[in-house]
Amino acid sequence: MAALRDALIETMLLEEKQFRRQLPDLVETHQLRNVDSDTADESPTDILQSLDALTSGSVTPFERKTIRKMVRLGMAPLGLTLTGPAYQDNPVRYATQTFQEMTGYSLATLRGENLRLLQGPATNPDAIATLQEGIDIWERRTVELWNYRADGTRFRNRVTIVPLTGPDGSITNWLGVQKAIDTAED
Ligand SMILES: Cc1cc2nc3c(=O)[nH]c(=O)nc-3n(C[C@H](O)[C@H](O)[C@H](O)COP(=O)(O)O)c2cc1C
Repeated sequence: MAALRDALIETMLLEEKQFRRQLPDLVETHQLRNVDSDTADESPTDILQSLDALTSGSVTPFERKTIRKMVRLGMAPLGLTLTGPAYQDNPVRYATQTFQEMTGYSLATLRGENLRLLQGPATNPDAIATLQEGIDIWERRTVELWNYRADGTRFRNRVTIVPLTGPDGSITNWLGVQKAIDTAED
């Protein structure tokens, strides 16, 4: 799964046109059965339309481009989240279907929230500090920590956060990649 995580991140970092070109490869290499790699279809209509209703006026063009890519990967086996701006405490801008299913939170609920809302009593403070440090110095970090679903059950979450460089070269947004890890305890 580590290979898929890295491949997803590298693909997400591609500019839109290259992203569309790369998608079929990603789907085939990692057998992503739920991801539609049809690059001719540029508008996964239903999701984007409902997203329009949800986000009109409140997302930057860069966020919009990023969300378009995330929508294509919405059913990938790892969750994807977009947050920003960092100076406003990284509120969620978008979260994929997989992430919503994994946590039990709808996009409507997640939007505007910092993802620390998933944390609770068993969450390791060292892991939180590692994420905080990555955000402070704009570097990628991966941690494993206890998170809690909307129904209160906990799961082991492996989280990678990746700084995203916008069109003007500055980092305002972050990409999150999340996966619930099987544990004997859970
Ligand atoms: C893109 C992104 C995704 C994140 N995903 C998670 C997550 O799934 N679970 C979690 O516990 N924290 C997640 N975080 C970390 C928290 O949002 C927060 O940055 C962390 O708790 C450290 O900050 P704090 O000490 O102010 O809480 C994510 C952060 C970013 C930027």
